Order: sequence, then C-alpha cells, then structure tokens
Amino acid sequence: MKKRILFVCLGNICRSPGAEAVLTQMASQRQLVTPLEIDSAGIGGWHAGEPADSRMQKHALKRGYQMTGTARKFDPDRDFDQFDLIIGMDGENIRALRSMARNDADKKKIMRMTDFSKLYSYTSVPDPYYGGEDGFELVLDLLEDACDGLLDKLEQENLR
Ligand code: 4NP
Repeated sequence: MKKRILFVCLGNICRSPGAEAVLTQMASQRQLVTPLEIDSAGIGGWHAGEPADSRMQKHALKRGYQMTGTARKFDPDRDFDQFDLIIGMDGENIRALRSMARNDADKKKIMRMTDFSKLYSYTSVPDPYYGGEDGFELVLDLLEDACDGLLDKLEQENLR
C-alpha cells in the first residue's frame, strides 16, 4: 500500500521542503516496494505561494536536490486525512500539530523528524531562517540522516 508522508516546519520554505526534496531523491535511489507520496506544509501561512528560501535552494542544489514546490499552510481538516505520517521538525511544530489534531488517530500520525536519525543526536532540526549559511548545511546533514532512517523503517515494514 502507498505511504503518504507530510513534512511540517514553521514557514514551509526551508526545512520541510528540504525534507521533501531529500526523501524524494533518496527514495527513488532505494527502489522501495511501497510507493511514497511526499509533500510538505508550514504551521504558518506567511510564505504561502512562495518558492523555497533561496539560501535553502542554493545549499540543496549543491548536494543535487531540486526544490520546485511552493509553500502552503498546514490544513488540519485535509492533511490529517490525506497523510499517514505527519513529521514535524522541532518541538514547537509538534506542539502546534498536536493542538490541531482532532482525535487520537490524528495524534498517532504525528512524529518528530529526529526520531528517525541514525548518526546525529539532535532532538530537533534547528530553524535556519535567521542564522548563517552553516545552519542550512546542518539542516541538510540532519535531513539526509533522518530520511535514511525513515526509509530503513519503511523497508522493514515491507517485510512484515
Ligand atoms: P522553516 O524556516 O520553518 O524551516 O521554513 C522558517 C521560515 C520562515 C520563518 C521562520 C522559519 N518566518 O518567520 O518567516
């Protein structure tokens, strides 16, 4: 069966579209049995309709990831039904998602990106928006590691 995965951050212009691009590319290289549907959204709608942050795009492209989508706001009434996994980037995102959950089934879909990390011990993917260039590289390091772990989990589920 298809797995539908939604990444969520605050603005949907840095971390979650980055996660979308990284997972899309890594999944195509792994040839998973389970087809994936991958999307991203923001807790806030300030940047809705805009492309990803140009700094994020530049750092992602250096590693071969194309970020082509535009930002949108998380919609609890649609997204909790449309996705199987809703993955937040930090504690603030998780709290906001939990506060919008309509029931326990919605709450069970909410996960934290760093729970899938294999190499790093960060407990969140830090917001790079007001920081320097290093922050974007760190975001990509954490996203690549967590996407690798997420794909491992999805492959293990295929075996069951
Ligand atoms: P993101 O980064 O949540 O990773 O997309 C941010 C983007 C915009 C803002 C904050 C964080 N903002 O305050 O506009």
